[in-house]
Amino acid sequence: MPDPPRFVTVDDYEALAREVLTPAVTEFLAGGAGDERTLASNRRAFDRWVLRPRFLRGVAAADPSTELFGSPLALPVLIAPWAYQRTAHPEGERATARAAARAGTIMCVSTTALDLLEDIAAASGSPKWWQLYVFADRGFTAEMLRRVSSAGYAALVWTIDLNAYGLRHRETRVGYEPPISLTTQDLAYDPSIDWDDLGWIREQAPGLPLLLKGILTADDAELAVAAGADGIVVSNHGGRQLDGSPASLDVLPEVLEMVGGRIPVLVDGGVRRGTDIVKALALGASSVMIGRPAAWGLAAGGEDGVVDVLQILREELENAMTLCGCATVGDITREHVAPAPDG
Ligand code: FNR
Ligand code: LAC
Repeated sequence: MPDPPRFVTVDDYEALAREVLTPAVTEFLAGGAGDERTLASNRRAFDRWVLRPRFLRGVAAADPSTELFGSPLALPVLIAPWAYQRTAHPEGERATARAAARAGTIMCVSTTALDLLEDIAAASGSPKWWQLYVFADRGFTAEMLRRVSSAGYAALVWTIDLNAYGLRHRETRVGYEPPISLTTQDLAYDPSIDWDDLGWIREQAPGLPLLLKGILTADDAELAVAAGADGIVVSNHGGRQLDGSPASLDVLPEVLEMVGGRIPVLVDGGVRRGTDIVKALALGASSVMIGRPAAWGLAAGGEDGVVDVLQILREELENAMTLCGCATVGDITREHVAPAPDG
């Protein structure tokens, strides 16, 4: 008899990751800001919707592939930028890059990556996006963006919700020391970033699609479109920044209504199941991103762990699409979700 599968859902990776990581790194990965209300709300928001399956449509198998900014994706799930991956696994971002390539999706590499951005770019042949934090030292930032362009990154994701570091009580209590500090020392992020910086960023990386990550209101979505953003990631940074800010899924509808299809809108925060992905797409998201599931997968199993996390989500998504009567991602519509009666 073969051993029963050890990993059934992506959550199963968290348990193994906790066995191999130090408490400090575990708390850094798992934690949110403040009382973690927003962190918890990201998950609960998916329970506020139910699926409306349609039957007898002849759907024997579903194809979850899609496309973003000209890059084909095997599934509408990208790897969100997450920091200091080498603290979770010795091969860090390079392992994640190889895993994303094997799964047919895009890794968004964080500005905080500990390896050289060129080495991460070279770790796999498939497209990657670069997540940008703007440093107070604009010369340094410009040079970084020049290197990002010449290393072949396919898009920029400017994270706008870290003009201050969230109050991470778990990090404080456990005495977590980040490998690079974001707010102190010479290389500090610029806390005074504003809408005018969008044009400056564009000039440093001409031709690259520019997405804004961290949008949580229709008002900021409209400003983003007006400022010429090519895409939006609705996100509260995995509940790590402003506790009390809304669940990403809860503000997705107002953002989509304001954007009105002018640019793609992605969402992240609390995506843990294939059914979550169907709900986000049914509400109108182009794709989702996953943060912690990829982190737990990397910590527990390196490259193979991240591949398996994406494979689990892919199989769950295919199953949910098939049972909803959706043969393709384009078949998933607003008709496939409704507010939960007890939500
Ligand atoms: C993050 N996130 C993040 N975002 C970003 O733009 N730059 C970064 O460096 C990081 N770093 C980071 C570290 C860790 C450990 C986590 C968990 C998250 C936020 C990330 O991109 C994403 O928005 C959330 O992780 C999505 O929520 P889930 O999937 O973790 O629930
Ligand atoms: C975080 C930063 C590094 O969320 O983005 O930890």
